[in-house]
Amino acid sequence: MEIGELVGWGRSAAVYAIDGDRVLRRYRTPLNVRREAAVMAYVAAHGFPVPDVYPDVYPDAGGELSTDLVMRRLSGPTMLRALIDGEISAEEVGRVTAGLLRQLHAIPARVSGDPRDRVLHLDLHPDNVMLTPHGPYVIDWCNTQEGPPGLDCAMSAVIVGQVAVDEESPFTTVAREVLVALLDGLGDAMDFGDGLDQASARRGADQGLTAREVGFLDAAVSLIRELRTG
Ligand SMILES: Nc1ncnc2c1ncn2[C@@H]1O[C@H](COP(=O)(O)OP(=O)(O)OP(=O)(O)O)[C@@H](O)[C@H]1O
Ligand SMILES: [Mg+2]
Repeated sequence: MEIGELVGWGRSAAVYAIDGDRVLRRYRTPLNVRREAAVMAYVAAHGFPVPDVYPDVYPDAGGELSTDLVMRRLSGPTMLRALIDGEISAEEVGRVTAGLLRQLHAIPARVSGDPRDRVLHLDLHPDNVMLTPHGPYVIDWCNTQEGPPGLDCAMSAVIVGQVAVDEESPFTTVAREVLVALLDGLGDAMDFGDGLDQASARRGADQGLTAREVGFLDAAVSLIRELRTG
C-alpha cells in the first residue's frame, strides 16, 4: 500500500490518502482500532453517517493494538472549518450536532445488555463532523463507548462550552451561539445533572487537553446549567 499526501491531522492522528477513495488514519500511539472499526461499521449498518471502514486493510497489522485504520475518503470541510469560513451559521452547527447525537442514540447498543445504554461517540463536536455532498458525516471514533446517551450530549456541550467561556478565544461568541442551539436541539436528551459532571470529569482526565483548557471546565459547566434555567 502506497501512502500518499497528508489530507488532515489532529491531536491524536494524521490522515493520509492511500488510493483514489480511501485514507489511512494513523494514530501517534497504538490503540484498539479494531474495536473502533467495529463500532463504525455497526452504526453505519444502522444508517448512521460514518465513513466506510476496511478492517482487513491494516498496514500495521498484528495483535489487538494498531496505529492504522483505513476508511473511505470523505470530501468537504469539517463543520468547524465551514463555520469559520462563514459557510454555515452557528445556529445550524448546533442544530446539526444535536441531530447527529439524537440519531446515534436512536440505535440500540451493540454489546451492552442494559436497554438504556447506547453507542456513545464522546467527542462529537464541530471539528469531528465533515460536511460532505451527501450530508454531515461523523469521524474520530477513538473515544467511543456504550452508556447513557445523556453523557454523550453533555460531553458535546462541555466541549463547545469550554470555548464559549474562553474570553480570549476569537470564537467565544460564536461558540456560545452554537451551545444555545445545541441545547435547544437536544431538549430532554441532555443530562444537566450527573451526566454533565461526569462529562466534565472525563474531559478533565483527557491527556490531550492543555492545562488552560482544563481550567475552563468548571465555568463551562456553570454556563451550561445557566443556559438551562436562563
Ligand atoms: N475519512 C476521511 N476522509 C477525509 N479526511 C478525513 C477523514 N478522516 C479524517 N479526515 C481529516 O483528518 C482530520 C483529522 O481527523 P481526526 O479528527 O480523525 O483526527 P484526530 O487526531 O483524532 O483529531 P483530534 O484532534 O480531534 O483528536 C480531520 O479534520 C479531516 O480533515
Ligand atoms: Mg478530530
